[in-house]
Amino acid sequence: MAENQQQKKPAPTASAGKREEVIAKLKADGVWKSPLDRRKFITTAAAGWAIFAAAFAGLGSILAAFMAPRLDFTKAQKFRAGVPDEYGSNTVSEKYKNSEKVWICRTTDKIVAVSTVCTHLGCTPNWSENELKFKCPCHGSGFYGPRPGVEVGVNFEGPAPTPLPRYKIVVGDDGQLVVDKGTMFFKEKGEWGNAESYVPV
Ligand code: FES
Repeated sequence: MAENQQQKKPAPTASAGKREEVIAKLKADGVWKSPLDRRKFITTAAAGWAIFAAAFAGLGSILAAFMAPRLDFTKAQKFRAGVPDEYGSNTVSEKYKNSEKVWICRTTDKIVAVSTVCTHLGCTPNWSENELKFKCPCHGSGFYGPRPGVEVGVNFEGPAPTPLPRYKIVVGDDGQLVVDKGTMFFKEKGEWGNAESYVPV
């Protein structure tokens, strides 16, 4: 029996001896990495990749949120704004300024729905009845109110680069004005002649 056990344990060969010698040398030089060390390295590397992948996925979702359109489709884009006769000639109604960010302006011949967002950096201008203009409190841009010889919302002072855009406005089946904030008209694109950018009166 003891003889059998001795047979199962082969005597170290010359090459095995050489290997031990090399390992001993590497250990002495401080560069030997045991198989356990290598496993630890692989585990650490895998964990590192997992963290990197998670961070990349997080960055991707932040980027996607950043690139997504800023329109809130969960909010209704259309609203009814009463009948045209509610608005006197050459007046500005601020009834929907806070709730819809829209001024309803009537000139001598049309009604328009004007955006209340300054085209400079997005502040909200104030309507000045005395000066007949929309004046932005942030950097001083001015936009015309309804008055003879000018177009409502055109920028004429301060840093605003373009006029205030207009929203689509039509008369609905019930005779009420319907403003659709899903469609905008820009003067600089030559869109203020579009039949849906105003209601003639
Ligand atoms: S945001 Fe209106 S002038 Fe700058």
